[in-house]
Amino acid sequence: MQILDGKATAKAIKNELKEAVDTRKRNGKKIPHLAAILVGSDGGSMTYVGAKVKACDEIGFESTLIRYDETISEQVLLDKIDALNNDNSIDGFIVQLPLPAHIDELKVTQAIDPRKDVDGFHPMNLGNMVLDLPGFLPATPAGIIELLRRYEIETEGKECVIIGRSNIVGTPLSIMLGRNKNPGNCTVTLTHSRTKNLKEVVSKADIIVAAMGRPEFVTADMVKEGAVVIDVGTTRVEDATKKKGWALKGDVKFDEVAEKCSYISPVPGGVGPMTIASLMINTLRAMELKNN
Ligand code: GUN
Repeated sequence: MQILDGKATAKAIKNELKEAVDTRKRNGKKIPHLAAILVGSDGGSMTYVGAKVKACDEIGFESTLIRYDETISEQVLLDKIDALNNDNSIDGFIVQLPLPAHIDELKVTQAIDPRKDVDGFHPMNLGNMVLDLPGFLPATPAGIIELLRRYEIETEGKECVIIGRSNIVGTPLSIMLGRNKNPGNCTVTLTHSRTKNLKEVVSKADIIVAAMGRPEFVTADMVKEGAVVIDVGTTRVEDATKKKGWALKGDVKFDEVAEKCSYISPVPGGVGPMTIASLMINTLRAMELKNN
């Protein structure tokens, strides 16, 4: 079994991006500027946004973090998005999800200028993704594809089962892995809470992507010998042995599944860092498209 080391792979990508930024700096060109909006103080969201800002620092991007209390009105957020859309110094920005229940996520996503939508969540970018036209790819699926590419994992003709049909991971990844590309060319089954005989379906897969947010859901008895296992889960589970009082758990029961599979991505240190690396790639591209 080999670990799909997302942390090391993301570091390699960040080094490549840093070189590109250093070259731009030497030539007196603009450096990329990412803004992130965080509403409220959900622990997971704060960690992710913090990691995104830290990645900008490492690479040499500029970053701006905009924080709001969870009671802000939808209109205040929409006004800020409008300001960022029109701020020429900002190349790309994200609104960290989830948002409080009184704010319409779709309305917020649609308000972002697709040219600055480095999360790739705007319907125009998702539509371009479906048609394989240029645009911004959603960061987590793009990160998974890049991880498969860099580990030279054969995907052509493979049975891939994705568990979880979210708009930001399962659904776009099902399209990306199913298309005629490398990585790609899989036969994809997108499973969800209404799938019958889920265990049986998953146990036939050559590639399993667990992205439904249920800690340690995928157990060894569901995994075919030699399968490739990608774990997208990041749930905080109470753990008195940890200083923080919680541990980050993936959707895969790592220890027992690791014994059976050919490759496995750990949590933490697997898909998470790759998501951030993809966001950085999108931000550099957003700036290049705008400023050359
Ligand atoms: N929440 C969970 N994943 C993501 C992501 O990739 N981007 C944003 N903006 N919010 C998220």
